[in-house]
Amino acid sequence: MGSWPSVNDVLRQRVSSALSQALENHSRQIFALLRRVRPLIATRRFGVVTRADDVRAVLADHSHFTVPFYNRKMSEISGPFILGLDDTPLYQRDHAALRGAIRPADVPRLAAATLAAARDHVAAADGEIDIVSQLVDPTVDRVIAEYFGTSGPDTATQVRWSREIFQQIFLNVTNSAAPRQRALAAAAEMRPYLDAQIATRRAALNEGDRVPDDVLTRLLQHPPEEGGLHDIAVRHNLIGLIAGWIPTVSKAFAGAVNELLGRPSELERTQQAARAGDQELVGRYVFEALRFQPQTWALLRSCAAECTLAAGTRRATRFRGGSTVLVATQSAMFDKLAFSAPDEFRIDRPFEDYLHFGHGLHMCFGREINRVHLPALAVALFEGPRVARAGGRAGQMAWDGPYPASLTVTFATATSK
Ligand code: HEM
Repeated sequence: MGSWPSVNDVLRQRVSSALSQALENHSRQIFALLRRVRPLIATRRFGVVTRADDVRAVLADHSHFTVPFYNRKMSEISGPFILGLDDTPLYQRDHAALRGAIRPADVPRLAAATLAAARDHVAAADGEIDIVSQLVDPTVDRVIAEYFGTSGPDTATQVRWSREIFQQIFLNVTNSAAPRQRALAAAAEMRPYLDAQIATRRAALNEGDRVPDDVLTRLLQHPPEEGGLHDIAVRHNLIGLIAGWIPTVSKAFAGAVNELLGRPSELERTQQAARAGDQELVGRYVFEALRFQPQTWALLRSCAAECTLAAGTRRATRFRGGSTVLVATQSAMFDKLAFSAPDEFRIDRPFEDYLHFGHGLHMCFGREINRVHLPALAVALFEGPRVARAGGRAGQMAWDGPYPASLTVTFATATSK
């Protein structure tokens, strides 16, 4: 979830701009220092949590640390969605309905669909590929279209809708007018588009027509009186899922590849693993690379009621009710008390130790999907000839606001391999 939420925006709002600029430029060193000398910071309105134990404790304590920021914005876009809900009956109902439609048994099918789509895009490349616009975005768009059963009009539009909506909900912490207007415009296009697809599928189900076994069918087949969702809630949730899927995977994949491109020996070993078809090993490189260039380096919580963190320790700190708390997940992944030799790139770290997908109640719903989706994308990119950064600016990550815009890599020719 640029980061999810926009930590820099929050910092700019809450602390001096000099400190926020310093944090932007030297965040790893500053958080290392904070973890040592001041691991927990709490003022009347703002808090920071930097160590792995405390980060996990805050994310696990969803009664004291809540997510009130997102719901109003989600309702403007379409309607309530689980990430914006605290642990209420609505959260539990929607979460259960989504679990009924998006099942662990689907994960191998999603891995295969990702690999097939990504291979098609790599095969279409002529010596070089922009891994954002020509690989990850169209692959994800195709996988979602097949799996959810809700294709967008075209990849560019679907990517634009999801980016605008995601930015407004998760990144526009200062509530600036322009991102809000863009997101409302995107949502005004996306809502009727999805409504039409839902209505068509509903009609087919009512007629007893043959329908695909996808997420849309499963959601619509589950009646509200048995815990399923009304059609309008199906729309809210599909918008939330699509907006939570495309921009996150796009940024995570681009960040991981960018990191690997800067580490020649790890890149070489990733390519060897990909050529050997060892997707699990490729995944270890990807998730470790993501620790250095994460999709987000912090999550936000609101402290709902006064409480003390790390009670009984020397760092015990009281957090005030109503304060906004920056939960520094990347910092936690560099905490040497939880990650041995944290500055080293190591592929022997357990997947469960990473905080890329959060922790606790709101832990990423797509975590197990991501666990195969990102590695499958990487296998398709790396299983062929040697991959290198393109020359000049094309080979450097370019940004479109908070999102990667492009990062071009070349494939070695047979003679240069
Ligand atoms: C690499 C890609 C992704 C990353 C890095 C990522 C990261 C995250 C993180 C950190 C959270 C927790 C947010 C918080 O606690 O404030 C989260 C929640 C969530 N993610 Fe993801 N995500 C990714 C992809 C996906 C995908 C593919 C889906 C859908 C299949 C998805 C659906 C969700 C949902 C629904 C939640 C909210 C869960 C809840 O509130 O119970 N995400 N994600």
